[in-house]
Amino acid sequence: MLFYKKKILVGITGGIAAYKVCFLVRSIKKQGGEVKTILTKAGERFVTKTTLETLSEEPVATDTFEPPSNEAILHIDLARWSDCFVIAPATANIIAKSANGIADDLLSTVILAHSGSIVFVPAMHTEMWENPATQRNIKLLRKMGHEVMPPGIGALARDKEGIGRMAESEEIESSIVNRLGLKEDLKGKRILISAGRTEEAIDPVRYISNRSSGKMGAALAEEALTRGAEVTIIAGIHNTQLPGEAAIIHTDTAQKMAAAVKKEVDKHDVLIMAAAVADYRPVNPVKSKIKKSKRGNLSIELEPTEDILGSLGKKKTNVVMVGFSVETDNVINNSRKKLSDKNLDLIILNNPLEPGAGFDVDTNIVTLIEKNKKPVKLPLLPKREVARHILDRVIHLI
Ligand code: CTP
Repeated sequence: MLFYKKKILVGITGGIAAYKVCFLVRSIKKQGGEVKTILTKAGERFVTKTTLETLSEEPVATDTFEPPSNEAILHIDLARWSDCFVIAPATANIIAKSANGIADDLLSTVILAHSGSIVFVPAMHTEMWENPATQRNIKLLRKMGHEVMPPGIGALARDKEGIGRMAESEEIESSIVNRLGLKEDLKGKRILISAGRTEEAIDPVRYISNRSSGKMGAALAEEALTRGAEVTIIAGIHNTQLPGEAAIIHTDTAQKMAAAVKKEVDKHDVLIMAAAVADYRPVNPVKSKIKKSKRGNLSIELEPTEDILGSLGKKKTNVVMVGFSVETDNVINNSRKKLSDKNLDLIILNNPLEPGAGFDVDTNIVTLIEKNKKPVKLPLLPKREVARHILDRVIHLI
């Protein structure tokens, strides 16, 4: 899932190499990316809108004045949407227009409206490539901070051999990977992540639970997927979108979560318990709704649930075990105690009383604690960034 949730905009101009871009679009999609395409009039002679629409699962943009949806300013919206903008094939014409700020159709207008660096993937006949005008335009583009991928030598339309062949899909992908700083350093690793909360029934309509939303677990899963891991999520109750690319096992109670984690753990290299598991459950959940009693207070007797990490830690295997520690007092010492009692490799402390940290927010403030190491406190960060730091540590522990 190298391109997981990355937004790639592809401009396609009129050249026979346009058919190769279909493979690029398919490949990025397969690896979790989102792709939008802009097709020029000449491009439409080589690939159809239907082909690109089917592969990208997005409407194809062709005309500045006829947006495919209700987007009011199509060229601006497209330019701002992308994490990476690629022009492939890039004809001598689009290179010339881009180098000189000409905007006379949708693609050239989006290029002019785009503020970042663009990847141009030239494809043309040798004579056009070698023409001093093209060479000057390429120099200009590079000077402006854009990347112009060198074309290959090989068969061209009507010519047996010459310079001007468009770079292959894999080369274009590696250029995108480099620009976006993507890495697949968890490829081949299997990561088990618990997310969300458990609910322990009092009666058929009431339960004991906590405020966990599942956002931290979801962010960890997304980050692990992006970095090439195979991810299984043991989901408790949650109110966030879990990545569909992960295998998801749904649970609701601490008991069911414990059973699912224990069943799965040995098939994985890493277990990250991000779920907020209830520590207690009612001893006797009542089968029918408890009626209000006029005689005063109601007591519910609670019994401890199984400490999932605690049980697994006792029979320590090769699985890297990561826990979370929710603490509001004596936070470092209490977390260190959990790290050692549960025999964990890493514990992530967060204090929900700190503004921006904890449950049901998109940010967190955490401290990473390992045995015999100085705790590392991270600043307030989006949960996805926190996930990146955690997995950076996990890699060293595998
Ligand atoms: N955990 C678990 N099984 C439980 C309770 C917690 O595996 N029954 C895991 C959590 O998923 C978390 C870690 O243990 O990764 C620590 O959870 P936390 O609630 O901070 O601590 P507890 O061990 O429950 O102790 P306390 O509530 O007293 O702080």
